[in-house]
Amino acid sequence: MNTEVSDRERWNGRYADGEEGGTPLMLGRNLHLFPRSGLALDVAGGPGQAAVILAARGLDVTVCDVSDVALRMAAERAERSKVSITTIETDLTSDPLPNGPWDLITCFNYLDRKLFPAMIEQLAPHGQLAVTLVTRSNLERNEHPTERFLLDDGELPSLLGDLAIEYYDEGWKLDGRHCAEALARRV
Ligand SMILES: C[S@@+](CC[C@H](N)C(=O)[O-])C[C@H]1O[C@@H](n2cnc3c(N)ncnc32)[C@H](O)[C@@H]1O
Repeated sequence: MNTEVSDRERWNGRYADGEEGGTPLMLGRNLHLFPRSGLALDVAGGPGQAAVILAARGLDVTVCDVSDVALRMAAERAERSKVSITTIETDLTSDPLPNGPWDLITCFNYLDRKLFPAMIEQLAPHGQLAVTLVTRSNLERNEHPTERFLLDDGELPSLLGDLAIEYYDEGWKLDGRHCAEALARRV
């Protein structure tokens, strides 16, 4: 009997138990760095906080995630905020990234190093990739996320290939986590 819990079951359970996620910090302080129009993909966007902020800014946003519960929450959030978003249920460990080209790809708090080449490839010319991920130093103050979901300190730039980094910050954030944040552009 296969007792392994799939990502879909695990995350559906977490969202059904009331997990709401938070507003990705980059979109709080640095929203002015993001475009106001074009096609955006929020990778593993969960219940849609980022997607709704970006849609309200003027982008045409698609959010993909393995959890159908999260995507329903995202659709309801968009409706409450009177913006339109598209949702795609997909398992990013086995399915390809939704086809671009995308003017903006965001990936907040979901680590799969293998996804970076695809995210870079699916950017439109001059398209931007925005990433926030928790780094190993976070373990000094927090038990979660566990090690397999953490970037090494200083690792994020090496995952960005030939993109031009327009914004980078790494350190302790206001939410008490140690994160690396980058906004980088295809040139
Ligand atoms: C920590 S949450 C981050 C959600 C959102 N990006 C944020 O910053 O609040 C991780 C998200 O990854 C999604 N996820 C986990 N495994 C996945 C997979 N194999 N394919 C697609 N999405 C996945 C989960 O459903 C969850 O919404």
